[in-house]
Amino acid sequence: MDTRETYTVGYSDVAVRYMRRRHASRDAGFLLPHLKPGMTVVDCGCGPGTITVGLAEAVAPGRVIGVDLEESQIEAARNTAREHGTKNVEWRVASVYQLPFPDRSFDAVFSHALFEHLGEPLAALEEIKRVLRPGGFAAISSPDWSGNLMAPRDHDVEQAIQVYKAIQQRNGGNPYVGCEFGPLLQEAGFSRIALSAIYDCYEDVPLVAELLAQRIEEGVGKQIVAGPGLGRAEVGGLCRALRQWANQPAVLFAQTFVDAIGYVDA
Ligand SMILES: C[S@@+](CC[C@H](N)C(=O)[O-])C[C@H]1O[C@@H](n2cnc3c(N)ncnc32)[C@H](O)[C@@H]1O
Repeated sequence: MDTRETYTVGYSDVAVRYMRRRHASRDAGFLLPHLKPGMTVVDCGCGPGTITVGLAEAVAPGRVIGVDLEESQIEAARNTAREHGTKNVEWRVASVYQLPFPDRSFDAVFSHALFEHLGEPLAALEEIKRVLRPGGFAAISSPDWSGNLMAPRDHDVEQAIQVYKAIQQRNGGNPYVGCEFGPLLQEAGFSRIALSAIYDCYEDVPLVAELLAQRIEEGVGKQIVAGPGLGRAEVGGLCRALRQWANQPAVLFAQTFVDAIGYVDA
């Protein structure tokens, strides 16, 4: 399997619970107006498939194929489809860099929260373009961590976030990829590019904080990064601060996602 980077979020119970809260009406809200019954769609990096089943509903009786590098996520996605009674969806273990489909075979390719983990986003977009038919389009959505809002402000929490971003960068990802979507889509040869952004306001801030703290602890434990100028003990203190901050009565963690659509010329 093609692995050019390390996927920072991992597949712990907390990570999968965090993915499962997602759904098409919010997280693919920018794509839904472009979908029509009968279309064929690929969802790259589908994870446990909670967005994918919403796309399948939108294009029925068309077909959606969810693709993920990780077998356990494809298993989870199969369960999601069973729970929803979704019939017009299939699943494949594969990499976005090597999609197991012929050229020009889909109307749309969607990808949510994948590109921030990729070391070669341009290669991924070129592969996505290969499988799109003329007139088809890519719809991608990823965070840009420069746009986040976290309240109340807390210096230690801000430092913990810096450490998380450093780990993601050390793993080959890019926490700021959202604002690079325009130039990337242009370079890959897409046209009629439209960019927008939304806040994902986490309704369960302790869950997202726990995920980030665990990933920081794991990243530091593996000596991927000791934090920007910080020792291991200091990083442990930042994780404690992050968990305490998240468990306050009134707390806001709003993450900026950049949504982009680009067309293949007909
Ligand atoms: C943050 S999750 C997003 C899951 C889902 N799209 C969502 O938003 O809920 C990213 C997913 O991309 C998968 N992934 C990572 N690298 C990949 C690659 N090169 N090709 C396909 N999937 C990949 C991971 O296994 C993980 O399930």
